[in-house]
Amino acid sequence: MTSTVMPKVKLGSQGLMVSALGLGCAGMSGFYGPPKPEPEMIKLIHHAIDSGVTFLDTSDAYGPHTNEILIAKALKGKGLREKVQIATKFGLRWIDGKPEACGDPAYVRSCCEASLKRLDIDCIDLYYAHRIDIRVPIEITMGEVKKLVDEGKVKYVGLSEASASTIRRAHAVHPITAVQNEWSLWSRDLEDEIVPTCRELGIGIVPYSPIGRGFLAGGPSLVDNLIEGDFRKVCIILNISKKILFSMPRFQNMDHNKIVFERVNEMATRKGCTAAQLALAWVHHQGTDVVPIPGTTKVQNFNQNIGALSVKLTPEEMKELESFASSDVVKGERHAYMQYTWINSDTPSLSSWKSS
Ligand code: ATR
Repeated sequence: MTSTVMPKVKLGSQGLMVSALGLGCAGMSGFYGPPKPEPEMIKLIHHAIDSGVTFLDTSDAYGPHTNEILIAKALKGKGLREKVQIATKFGLRWIDGKPEACGDPAYVRSCCEASLKRLDIDCIDLYYAHRIDIRVPIEITMGEVKKLVDEGKVKYVGLSEASASTIRRAHAVHPITAVQNEWSLWSRDLEDEIVPTCRELGIGIVPYSPIGRGFLAGGPSLVDNLIEGDFRKVCIILNISKKILFSMPRFQNMDHNKIVFERVNEMATRKGCTAAQLALAWVHHQGTDVVPIPGTTKVQNFNQNIGALSVKLTPEEMKELESFASSDVVKGERHAYMQYTWINSDTPSLSSWKSS
């Protein structure tokens, strides 16, 4: 396969060019079960680049830290650095098994320095705030990111799981190139406000978990076969109600939610593609400003995902697919910690910060 197969697209309005499909690398270093063998993952990254998928998505939170090191090893000494666009992230850390966002300027700077070292590069192509710290005005966090851009340590800036108002405020400090939020057939909560805001401001959209964290590829059998330690199966105990929830509650409701997969899978059979390809094609059809980053640890699945670019959907087929996973069909939140997503990402005003 040659690199001409994969189109390059403009992401955002500042000049960043990326492959029309990215590669989510988180699962290579854990998260969905234990870390995968390094030599195999390096081969997969090389295969992705050979296939024209040059937009690599990582974060300091993946591993933590080891995913960035894996990418550095894959790129080292092969003249690949100039061929790829590395997107990494700061600002999400795990304290006692719980996620916490941090947007303090000193922390932002230290994260950037550490990521540059681990990735063994001079400049991060796209640097996202991984989660928004609601204690710190977004202008303060972005002010530090802007300095990093001015110093040549970061080229383009992004936000992940940010609300429309946070995106607008951040964009006023420094142009935002991309917003990365969960977006798939069964996670469409960003469509009302976030997508229109990005389009108004010329910001690219990078859907993560476009295959519904694997559900839209494997359905209930994927859930039955999840192994211990897989984040989709991890339970958390909510502080207040003491209720035990899956960290991704939808995966707890398979008797109900399996119908979504069954319908997608049935339509995929009709169209002569796989359910994963159909789910990904639906995301691709959202627009040329949308660059999904499906995560995989397998060459075979990666090849399938590239194939999704050739699956064409009519407006009627898009509607049909959407009807399979409407919000009244899907049971359970996409995340047990919805309070750490864009839903609760508005930060204090700059004036209240200055006066405190
Ligand atoms: P995330 O962005 O969180 O990684 P995703 O892209 O929606 O979520 O889905 C990733 C999951 O789908 C992974 O469990 C991946 O498993 P492998 O690492 O075993 O591939 C799975 N997945 C990705 N592409 C797939 C495909 N074409 N067929 C089956 N499963 C796939």
